[in-house]
Amino acid sequence: MDKIRITGGQRLDGAIPISGAKNAALPLMIASLLTDETLTLANVPRLSDVSALSRILSNHGVDRSIAGKRIGQSAETGQTIALTARQIVDTCAPYELVSTMRASFWVIAPILARMGEAKVSLPGGCAIGTRPVDLLLMALERLGAEIEIENGYAIARAPRGLKGAEIVFPKVTVGGTHTALMAAVLAQGTTVIENAAREPEVTDLAACLTKMGAKIEGAGTSRIVVTGVARLGGAHHAVLPDRIETGTYAMAVAMTGGDVLLEGARADLLQSALDVLVKAGVEVSSTKEGIRVRRNGQPLEAVDVETDPFPGFPTDLQAQFMALMTKARGTSRIRETIFENRFMHVQELARLGAKIRLEGDCAHVEGVAKLTGAPVMATDLRASVSLVIAGLAAEGETTINRVYHLDRGFEALEAKLTRCGALVERLSG
Ligand code: EPU
Repeated sequence: MDKIRITGGQRLDGAIPISGAKNAALPLMIASLLTDETLTLANVPRLSDVSALSRILSNHGVDRSIAGKRIGQSAETGQTIALTARQIVDTCAPYELVSTMRASFWVIAPILARMGEAKVSLPGGCAIGTRPVDLLLMALERLGAEIEIENGYAIARAPRGLKGAEIVFPKVTVGGTHTALMAAVLAQGTTVIENAAREPEVTDLAACLTKMGAKIEGAGTSRIVVTGVARLGGAHHAVLPDRIETGTYAMAVAMTGGDVLLEGARADLLQSALDVLVKAGVEVSSTKEGIRVRRNGQPLEAVDVETDPFPGFPTDLQAQFMALMTKARGTSRIRETIFENRFMHVQELARLGAKIRLEGDCAHVEGVAKLTGAPVMATDLRASVSLVIAGLAAEGETTINRVYHLDRGFEALEAKLTRCGALVERLSG
């Protein structure tokens, strides 16, 4: 298994291109199952999750072609993928495939909407919590599907098609909202989704579905109204920039000090996180080219943070922010409200010298003067990258094991950091 070795203590200066968002690319790729025409997606990041989903989609009969390299393109400019589900040849998503990536469970909605049946393996637990799918199945039931759970599979049937209905989510769920949207676009009549997720990735999916011919109002608000149509067609859509990658590099610059332009980043996608960085003493400005992040000698101040659904502070930046706060002046309280078990980075940050005390869903992070390098590992993607951020500011060498977590969600991480002056290298294991 590959490792990443970081020699800490270097400032970051320069520019980092921000890739297309993983969490938008995945549902957009899944939406290709809704039509027999071609859905062309541009700015798709080169990530192992994207490759894994491609394999899952081809099992259902989706043809894929990737546009060849053009002048001016590099391994870091997003790729363009054309997906065509002329026929769905298999309505079953087996355990072996779904267990590698939770988001693949979402194929249940378009396959059910188009074929009247779908059988998808239940995804099981994951490192950050139990992550059930009850609300996704509730949404499909509201639209008239019959659901059975059998031998670890969710089997959904709607032989006479889905029917529009009111879906009220008792808590905000991104995957639930994606699922409800993809099922409702081909249902007969009107669906109202209440307490819908307002995440930018939901808005991006709705924008793409609208280009495909869907009738959707209110995406980006907590009430989405969908008027079903008989069929959808092909479309061309560019994936929006990754707000979590943006926030991660912003925190890396805040941690090491320096001056970096995050090219193509959009402040409106992560305003709450940027506001917190400003409170911590970091300079953040929006420019035509992206977001510029600077810290030149001013100290980092401790700031309290609570994760929340969008537009609140994202859970996917909680670990990275905790890494930053390990070197702030004072004590920061970080509360995780979305997932019940998303503090696995705490033990590993402690190995680098961080002082963190856990109390239920709250971490008390007492800033220390210095971190020192150590071998570390993490069990999920965002926790892994928080160790990269800490390693960049630690004295000496930090080796991060299980790099495959990083490859799931960060395109060209070493190259992007190295070009800004970081000492980062991948060691093949
Ligand atoms: N929940 C339920 N029942 C359900 C669905 C969700 O109780 O049927 C709970 C979850 O257990 C959690 C909360 O509702 O406590 C919110 O979960 P949500 O459904 O919003 O999460 P998700 O759709 O499974 C996506 C992202 C996650 C991100 C969350 C929250 C993708 C592929 N994944 O997951 O991203 O943390 O939304 O914003 O979009 C990551 O990229 O590292 C990642 C984990």
